[in-house]
Amino acid sequence: MALVKLKGVILNPTENGDVEIIRNSNLEFSNSNGKISKISPLDNKEEKNLSDKIETIIIPGLIDLHSHIPQLPGVGKNADELLPWLKNHIFPLETKFNSLEYAEVVIRRFFEDALSCGTTTFVLYSSIHKEATNLSFEIAKEFGIRAFIGKVMMDRDMKRYPEPLPTMARNIKDSMELAKQWHGENGGLLHYIFTPRFAGSCSMKLLQKTAEIAKDGNFFIQSHLAENQSEVNFIKSLFEREKLKVPTNTHIFKKSNLLGERTLLAHCLYLSQIELQILESTGTNIIHCPTSNIFLQSGFMPFRRYQDHKINIGLGTDVAGGYSLSLFNEMRNAIETSKIVNVVSYARPKPILTAKEVFWISTLGAAKILKIDNEIGSLEPGKDADLVVIKPNKLFNFYCNLNSTEDILQSLIYLPHTYLIQEVYIRGRKIKINQK
Ligand code: GUN
Ligand code: FE
Repeated sequence: MALVKLKGVILNPTENGDVEIIRNSNLEFSNSNGKISKISPLDNKEEKNLSDKIETIIIPGLIDLHSHIPQLPGVGKNADELLPWLKNHIFPLETKFNSLEYAEVVIRRFFEDALSCGTTTFVLYSSIHKEATNLSFEIAKEFGIRAFIGKVMMDRDMKRYPEPLPTMARNIKDSMELAKQWHGENGGLLHYIFTPRFAGSCSMKLLQKTAEIAKDGNFFIQSHLAENQSEVNFIKSLFEREKLKVPTNTHIFKKSNLLGERTLLAHCLYLSQIELQILESTGTNIIHCPTSNIFLQSGFMPFRRYQDHKINIGLGTDVAGGYSLSLFNEMRNAIETSKIVNVVSYARPKPILTAKEVFWISTLGAAKILKIDNEIGSLEPGKDADLVVIKPNKLFNFYCNLNSTEDILQSLIYLPHTYLIQEVYIRGRKIKINQK
């Protein structure tokens, strides 16, 4: 059994929603069981040799709760708002995942880029293709990453999808087979997540059947909700044409039984009080994707107002609506969006999000949403060693007050040129990354 010993300043999210700073310490883990065994103070000699600068920072691996693997080559295609963007850029791009040779290049690049930004746990959409989704799992296993991946389910030919869509039965069959093959694989690092794209591309039958199967097997479910006003109206009219009584798009998910503690809904910008109450009472999680919300001109999610409800909110990069796989970039835009909400609302301004809050949300908060906070999310003996080693440069030390956790986190979030992400470990195993 090899013991790995790292030395540095540890930023550790705590149970009460705070982030504590543990002054220069030793962090030890075994790379046979991958668990942290000890966090201990430096000995006298090590203490003496210490400079007053921060040389190493150790943080828990970051957790991205929403992104799309096949959309990586579509980053920056800033044509339109959501629906025309999907039709003109995204659907044709995702269709290319019917070639495994092409898909492999994109999948590898996606994981390499995200790992080099410090992400160790991923919740991802693949494409509608079973084979390419299978390949995503194979490559995730090869990399040794922790991931929830789902085949995109669509059985409604919205906006003239460029290739034939699978039937409802086929969507279900393919997803179940992938779940059977991959859920719990690689020592439990891999999970299957049922992925009905959004109500606009799924029949009521598909939504209902998906909910039934996912709940039966205790699987997670992911989808999109209330991203922009035209999308909301488009979906509403689709279901009205079928004479289904659903006052809001949240009611579509409620009626199909898709809501619950294991459901992650991206965006959720345009929700009435009643819809928020439905999400709250069902324990459904909201995934905030501020970069994408700006890029596609979708709007600004009123984070603080949603906090009046007991709803868990996580963060997702939503590539390619979002242009970056970096969660530090996502944290930055979450903070900036909280300022914009203050500027554009006529209500009394609410406190802006803090660096500590967005960091907690991207680590322990996200692990709680995924119900794996007994394994990851913070750095404590007994938890898995999913962690990132960061090397600040001189500028970093010039910029911040080294005794302030908020200051250090602000530098990580706002000043990516002042440090290097040097090493990434998942369950105690060092992952090869492209340094940047
Ligand atoms: N709604 C349905 N599909 C998508 C997608 O791929 N990206 C985003 N941002 N919203 C969606
Ligand atoms: Fe998305």
